[in-house]
Amino acid sequence: MLSKKMQEALNEQVKIEAQSSQVYLAMASWAEIQPGIDNITAFFYRHSEEERMHMLKLIHFINERGGFAMVPALEQPTVTYPSIKHSFHELLKHEIMVSESINKLVDIALDEKDYATHNFLQWYVAEQVEEESLARTLNDKLELIGEEKSGLYLFDKDILNVTAAGGKEN
Ligand code: FEO
Repeated sequence: MLSKKMQEALNEQVKIEAQSSQVYLAMASWAEIQPGIDNITAFFYRHSEEERMHMLKLIHFINERGGFAMVPALEQPTVTYPSIKHSFHELLKHEIMVSESINKLVDIALDEKDYATHNFLQWYVAEQVEEESLARTLNDKLELIGEEKSGLYLFDKDILNVTAAGGKEN
């Protein structure tokens, strides 16, 4: 059974994952109208789907543990970016924020000796390590190649390999 505090904190995380899905969905839609970056666009759409899955996993856990997952209202995400580089920079910042939030949940679970929730959260801890690492790799690559069209062309081709090599499936 979840404590009130744990339940509220997990519900907050439901919102963060849902909001993450919206943020990346907005990035995907913006990327889709930029010419020649189909793989980057697909990456953002896929990332948005993954965040929705993270949200659903939390919802099921809260409900299975005797709590109630309240589907939250969401904020309007940023819908346009000055450049691809900016969007990936925001993605990294966003993932770091998510990791901090997961860490706080782990703190609460330990504090309350809620080992079931602690165990459940380990999946998210590992996932955040991967997501941050992937976001850093992509930012480093963008830094190296710059924003010229030829560089972006290569980045768009390369993002397929990077994401495949990362084995980022849930
Ligand atoms: Fe579900 Fe990318 O954090």
